[in-house]
Amino acid sequence: MKISVIGCGYLGAVHAASMAELGHEVVGIDVNPHRIDSLQRSIAPFHEPGFDALLLKNSSRLTFTTDMSASADATVHFVAVGTPQSADGSADMTYVNSAIEGLLPYLSDGDLVVGKSTVPVGTAERLSEQVQPTGAVLMWNPEFLREGFAVEDTLSPDRLVYGVPAGDDGDSATAILDEVYSEIIAKGTPRLVMNFATAELVKVAANSFLATKISFINAMAEIADVTGANVTQLADAIGYDTRIGRRFLNAGIGFGGGCLPKDIRGFVARAEELGVGDALSFLKDVDDINVRRRTRVAEILTEELGNLAGKTIVVWGISFKPDSDDIRDSPALDIAESLARAGATVVSADPEGWKPAQARIEQSGLSDSLTTTADHRVAVAGADALVVATEWKVFQGENADTIGELMSGNLVVDGRNCLDAEFWKAAGFRYRGMGRA
Ligand code: UDX
Repeated sequence: MKISVIGCGYLGAVHAASMAELGHEVVGIDVNPHRIDSLQRSIAPFHEPGFDALLLKNSSRLTFTTDMSASADATVHFVAVGTPQSADGSADMTYVNSAIEGLLPYLSDGDLVVGKSTVPVGTAERLSEQVQPTGAVLMWNPEFLREGFAVEDTLSPDRLVYGVPAGDDGDSATAILDEVYSEIIAKGTPRLVMNFATAELVKVAANSFLATKISFINAMAEIADVTGANVTQLADAIGYDTRIGRRFLNAGIGFGGGCLPKDIRGFVARAEELGVGDALSFLKDVDDINVRRRTRVAEILTEELGNLAGKTIVVWGISFKPDSDDIRDSPALDIAESLARAGATVVSADPEGWKPAQARIEQSGLSDSLTTTADHRVAVAGADALVVATEWKVFQGENADTIGELMSGNLVVDGRNCLDAEFWKAAGFRYRGMGRA
């Protein structure tokens, strides 16, 4: 089948390569010429495990271009552009709207437009009306991929969700997308067909639930901090109840990235527009708890070191999560910037995130007090304190004795509760976790 994918960011680029892996002829289209140039040369423009290999393996069935007219040959068109957060918290629909407008002249009778972007409920209905005069049908097929596992999640998803129009159009859309995903469906992947509004809500509801789970355990960490309880043991104990489950109960400096924070804010904004803001008022608490986690590290450092001005602090982690170079709304980078603003000299180390962080640090005018490196060992030389802000495996497996010898001070703040506390204490460190004193 001939497929076009509009938008080649984390979602679209991985989707394009994965569709080629399934045997389809794919063209990826994006307005960013640098990204397209890189993808066309089978070089991933961002760090995502397995993605380079997928691009290379499928290069004979994959092309990338900035020219929207290349979509004319395709019969299935995936829309995978970003919906960033607007100043008022709502989702910015500029890219989705311009992708659909750009695509309209190249659509023909029988084509299928498949929305993948995370959008406010009601969007698919509106776009469907726009697409209808071309004879094409629109459906919504939200994506649940996690960065760091994007290839695996695209080719072996937990479930497929189809939001379709009522009647024959819905049936034909379902049949075409079933053909596209036939290999995935043959593996027994659950496939749920529903109306537009439900499919749009599935995505934001899933992300809201995950965000709530993380903020719940972080609220418990706040209580643990004042009671002497240990939030990791608490999570283990409640997690054995299968109704609760242990996953996504890791307390620490909270969630970041390009999805969870903006999706819960966009959902709240949309509910308010619909006159049901009260239904989601709890998500504001979820957001507030999460934002408080980022200030907690500076509080702990101040408790231990006094005034931070003049102190040298090394932060391990810049990306919002391990195995990613994504620094969007990263708690790790936010914390490093706030420590620099408090007068500390900060060195941030991350195997991947150090590169994209440089431009942002220059923009924020903090280059004199905040530097980045890929080498987390070199970074600790002479430091008064070490903060672990992203749980890369290479940090967790580090030798505490060696690190202790390189540092001036002996304080470690484990912002992700990912270190073996006893091991670090045995090496002479003062260990402070998040909700596990
Ligand atoms: C998320 C959803 O998981 C995915 O289904 C959706 O498609 C996009 O948004 P992603 O942004 O890649 O994926 O990251 P995720 O693994 O969900 O982690 C989000 C944030 O939560 C990270 O900053 C992570 O460090 C944090 N987190 C996660 C915790 O603080 N504690 C946990 O227990 C789990």
